[in-house]
Amino acid sequence: MNSSEAQQVIESLRKGIPPNGFVRHFTVGRKTEIESLTERLQRISGGALLLQANYGSGKTHLLKFIKEEALSRNYVVSTVTLDANSSVRFNRMDQIFGEICRNIEIPTFPPMQGLKSFFDRIIFSIRENKNNQFWNEVTNYGLWDFSDKLFSSAMFVALRAWYFGGADVQNIVSDWLYQSWNYKSQRKKLYQKLVNDFERHFRDSRRDWEFYRDNVFNFSYNKYYQSWGALNDLNDMSLNAGFNGLVILFDEFEDVITNLNNISYQETAFMNLFHFYTGEKFSGKTFFAVTPSFTEKCKKVLIQKDRWHFDFSIFDVLPTFELSPLDKKDLRELSIRILDAHGIAYDWEPDLIMKNSQLRSIIDEAMLAQIQDRARYAIKSVVNALDDLYEDYES
Ligand SMILES: Nc1ncnc2c1ncn2[C@@H]1O[C@H](COP(=O)(O)OP(=O)(O)OP(=O)(O)O)[C@@H](O)[C@H]1O
Ligand SMILES: [Mg+2]
Repeated sequence: MNSSEAQQVIESLRKGIPPNGFVRHFTVGRKTEIESLTERLQRISGGALLLQANYGSGKTHLLKFIKEEALSRNYVVSTVTLDANSSVRFNRMDQIFGEICRNIEIPTFPPMQGLKSFFDRIIFSIRENKNNQFWNEVTNYGLWDFSDKLFSSAMFVALRAWYFGGADVQNIVSDWLYQSWNYKSQRKKLYQKLVNDFERHFRDSRRDWEFYRDNVFNFSYNKYYQSWGALNDLNDMSLNAGFNGLVILFDEFEDVITNLNNISYQETAFMNLFHFYTGEKFSGKTFFAVTPSFTEKCKKVLIQKDRWHFDFSIFDVLPTFELSPLDKKDLRELSIRILDAHGIAYDWEPDLIMKNSQLRSIIDEAMLAQIQDRARYAIKSVVNALDDLYEDYES
């Protein structure tokens, strides 16, 4: 960690936010739990896992941990946060798909985010691997006229336009995939810019009206059929470009109960969760951060709204993973790592000034806080105490 990285880390910790890029370095405790999570990343199979922890007890931290770990294990990763501000709804697979594309990250150093880094890498792989059967079938051996190797015909159109197009076309493709619902009345524009303008490069025998009739540009028809297909294509393309697949992380998943106010939206959202669990529609790995009472709350919502036809038992089969809270020893260890980072960030030696007993008493005090505030409180207090000492040291 260099000094500017350490400064960013300290700034995050000062606010009680897990420090991007360095979460693994600042992770303490929960050894066996963390081992079993990383073991999950070694497995080939997909499927969903609910990560349960109380408010403030490390859900976001753990998702960021998984993200770092997955990137270092050569997975493509995308994180979607479902809180009230993000305006992505889990019943809307077109929105979920768009957000996954927007936040997609490929394992490079430094990590790169967004559809551009992903598609550029895919195109690179297509160009470099002329003998790869999958890519040959996707591109129809370089003719690019037609192929149904990908599940989603929209994805084929998008990838092809990316391959032949310049930055302006790529911007349209990104914007379309990020918010496809805004393009419902712009099918003609999409046809023109992504298909017709490339007449010199490929011969797509379909006429414009066939694209509209077949809903090629539409991600929501038939229960978001194409959104699911395109999502699975992201996983397949990742695998064929040499990655280990796509890992999707959902934070603030409780949003499906608190912010979806319509029961049929909630039912759809629950069903989407089960689709991720069964892996029928998407074969990559997914992780959902929730509080321990999540499944009970879901059942309660359904009962209150008389949704007796819903199969409640499916909530009981969802694999869950409960996080134990951090203990005093963990927080002490964490405080020492923070102290080291503060020293690197501001180029001083806090351990010469901050007495061990002082650090201990900060942690002892934090242990008195309510369990859900403990970790955040301890971290913020340690940073504050270090900030104060540094100010005195400087003057
Ligand atoms: N295992 C851990 N090791 C070190 N720090 C941790 C660990 N777990 C959580 N933390 C730290 O505790 C604080 C709170 O964690 P986090 O933000 O992940 O909680 P949360 O469950 O997402 O909270 P909320 O319910 O508010 O979203 C963060 O600063 C985080 O970095
Ligand atoms: Mg959180």
